[in-house]
Amino acid sequence: MLFTTFALLVALATVSNAGLTRRVACPSGGTVTNAACCALLPVLEDIQTNMFADDTCGDAAHTALRVAFHDAIGFSKTKPSFGTGADGSIFIFAEQELSYDANLGIADAFNLQAPFIANHTIGVADFIQFAAAVSLSRCPGVVRPTFMFGRTDATVPAPDGTVPEPFQTVDVILARMADAGFTPAELVALLASHSIAGADDVDPSVSGLPFDSTPSVFDTQFFVETQLRGTLFPGTGGNQGEVETAVAGTLRLQSDSLLARDSQTSCLWQANVNNQAHMASSFQTAFAKMQIIGQNAAKLVDCSDVIPQPPALSAAAAKAFFPPGLTISNVEQACASTPFPNLPTAAGSAEHVPSIVQDPATNGACQDDGTGCVAKFTKP
Ligand code: HEM
Repeated sequence: MLFTTFALLVALATVSNAGLTRRVACPSGGTVTNAACCALLPVLEDIQTNMFADDTCGDAAHTALRVAFHDAIGFSKTKPSFGTGADGSIFIFAEQELSYDANLGIADAFNLQAPFIANHTIGVADFIQFAAAVSLSRCPGVVRPTFMFGRTDATVPAPDGTVPEPFQTVDVILARMADAGFTPAELVALLASHSIAGADDVDPSVSGLPFDSTPSVFDTQFFVETQLRGTLFPGTGGNQGEVETAVAGTLRLQSDSLLARDSQTSCLWQANVNNQAHMASSFQTAFAKMQIIGQNAAKLVDCSDVIPQPPALSAAAAKAFFPPGLTISNVEQACASTPFPNLPTAAGSAEHVPSIVQDPATNGACQDDGTGCVAKFTKP
């Protein structure tokens, strides 16, 4: 009897805590769970209105997501000279870091974001990771990202060689990721980002070549389509880091193709196929880890409540399919333990996926070789 009463009291306390999370009113309006998060509200308002504007998981969102990885991965568990992780060094030392081949195209992110960073009080490292989390909230199918706030900005640049390249072997890529603290499962989880992505520079003849047929939806098609036998190039073809794709208009990275077929990662890859919940939740967890690489987590404040809720993806829209004209016979089965799921084939004739429309705000003084990538991030 005593035990039952105690259990009831505990249950009631839990319910009332859940229902009565105290919120703090911010000076500029709005409420947050921790007063420190108030500093993010003007940034959110500004980037939603002026930086992402009417972007519905298009070029600006993709650009903001990619730079968050390239900044964070400048870190090694064993070599301090590799940088201090998610520290803003990619923009603070942009002239140097953007001259590295692996950062080709990150100039777009600098042009897009630098004017906004200079206008707000938050640090460069926080801005990059915050903008990435907000960019994800524009993509249907994403599980709302978490966001920790209060990073320390870099005092040194990351050296060349920290960012994986699309022409590297699986062993080299896995070794680099392990050195930064990531398992093969976490890398595959992170690569769900390529479901809302494309290439501007791998094939210089066409920009905005998507990695799957649905580049503005965070769905599992990327994991389906990379497993199909490659038959064509979207442009001139034969570029370093590119292999044949199965769907006209899309580009396949050699690294994604190899990871889909290597025995170390193929079953992890296939596990995402037609499993939206697994893909979205494993990405959310791995992305949260990526966003604080090299930072002292104990000093960060949880401001996840500031991140907007992403648009929902209906159960019907989350169902994977084979692109028109293709079937299970086009799958290059790689996972030895589980057969590839048999999916319906989308109706219609073979499609040509349109290129991703480029956001003009990604053009500016910062060039792909790093020249002109200078901004004084003085705070107002
Ligand atoms: C093995 C690891 C990875 C390799 C080799 C790789 C390689 C690439 C390459 C070559 C591009 C095309 C760049 C261009 O031509 O414009 C690209 C685009 C992209 N990547 Fe990755 N990537 C990796 C991991 C990641 C991770 C972990 C994330 C995020 C968490 C990410 C997010 C993106 C996004 C969003 C784009 C599209 C950018 C845009 O459209 O502007 N990538 N990646």
